[in-house]
Amino acid sequence: MAAVLEPTALGIDHYTLLDDDECDERIRAARQALGARLCILGHHYQRDEVFKHADFSGDSLKLSQMAARTDAEFIVFCGVHFMAEVADIVTDGLRTVVLPDLAAGCSMADMANLAKVRKCWSEISEVLDPDEMVTPVTYINSAADLKAFCGSHGGIVCTSSNARAVLEWSFARREKVLFFPDQHLGRNTAFEMGIPLEEMLVWDFTKPMGGATPEQIRAAKMILWKGFCSVHQMFQPAHIDNFRSRVPGGKVISHPENAFEVCRKSDFVGSTEYILRTVRASQPGDHWLVGTELNLVNRLADEMKPQGVSVEFMSPTVCMCSTMFRTDPQHLAWTLDNLVAGRTVNRIQVTPDVAKPARAALDLMLEVVD
Ligand code: 13P
Ligand code: SF4
Repeated sequence: MAAVLEPTALGIDHYTLLDDDECDERIRAARQALGARLCILGHHYQRDEVFKHADFSGDSLKLSQMAARTDAEFIVFCGVHFMAEVADIVTDGLRTVVLPDLAAGCSMADMANLAKVRKCWSEISEVLDPDEMVTPVTYINSAADLKAFCGSHGGIVCTSSNARAVLEWSFARREKVLFFPDQHLGRNTAFEMGIPLEEMLVWDFTKPMGGATPEQIRAAKMILWKGFCSVHQMFQPAHIDNFRSRVPGGKVISHPENAFEVCRKSDFVGSTEYILRTVRASQPGDHWLVGTELNLVNRLADEMKPQGVSVEFMSPTVCMCSTMFRTDPQHLAWTLDNLVAGRTVNRIQVTPDVAKPARAALDLMLEVVD
C-alpha cells in the first residue's frame, strides 16, 4: 500500500511526475483510508483511467441527485466546474466538494455570463415585461449565478434529461421562454413539443438587442441564447447519411446538444444516461451510430461487443471534451492524498447569496421531474 506522503510532497508538481499506475495505487490507498467519508462522482465523459475510480456515475441530473443524497463528508467530482457547484448548492455547503482540476470548465457554460444575461433581460424589457411574460430557463451547464438569476426571476434549471418537462412547466406559467446557454437543447426540445422554428428567435448576445427587432421579440415563443457545445458541433448530418448508406437497418442515437438537423435525422435523442440505457437494451446484431462524446462511446462499444452489438462513433475525427479530459489520475491522486493528510485542495464553494436563489431554481427542477 502507498504510504501517506509528507506535506512537502503534496504539491501538484510532484504528482504530475507520477505515472498512472503509481497514481492508481495512491488513489486506492486514499479511498481505503477515507472509507465512507469519501464519495467519488464520475460523469460519463470521463476518461477510463479516472472513471473506474468513481463510486457513482451518471448524467448531470443523476449526479446532482447522488450528491444530494450522499452522507459522505467529501464529494470529489470527476466532471466539470458547474457540476461541482451544483453539488455544493444541493448539499447546502455541508459537504466538502472538490474538483480535481480547477481548469475543468465547460466552454458552452462560458458562453453565457451574468452581465450578458442581465443585459439581454433589460433589452427585452424595452419591448415587453419579461418578469410577466418570459420564464428564464438555464441549462444546468451554466455558472451558479445564472441559476440564481433564474431563481430570482421565476425561472428554473433543466438538464438534458428533463428539458421537455421543464419547458412544459415554464410555458404553463408565462408565454415565452428565454433559454440559455445552449440553443440546440432549447430548439430540439421545443420543436419536439410542437413549437415551430418560426416561433424561435436566436439571441446573438454579441449584438445590441440580440440582433432582433422588437417585432421579432414580441413574436417569439422561444428566445434561444446563441451558445453551443464545441464537442457536439462536430457531428454532422452527412455522418448519419453515410452510416445509413453503409449500414441499412442501423440505428442512430444522439445527444440533444447536437444541431437540429442531426437530431432530426436520429432515431433516438436523449441524455448520456438515456443513450446508455437505450443501447444496452439492444439485441445481438444491432448496429448503432452514437453522437456524443468519445470516451462514453468507446466504453459503450467495448461493453456491447461481446453481446454482438456494434457501436460506432458519429464523427470520423476524434472529438473529446477537452475540459472533461483535464481530470487525470494525477489530479485525482493529488486531491485524495491531500484529504487523507487533512488538507482540502480545489474546494468548490458557492457563496450563500448566490447559492440560495440558485437552489430555489434547482429545487423547482427536481420537483418538476419527480
Ligand atoms: P448529460 O450527461 O446530462 O446528458 O450532459 C452532457 C454534457 O454535456 C455534460 O456537460
Ligand atoms: Fe461542456 Fe460540451 Fe464538454 Fe459537455 S461536452 S462539458 S457541454 S464542452
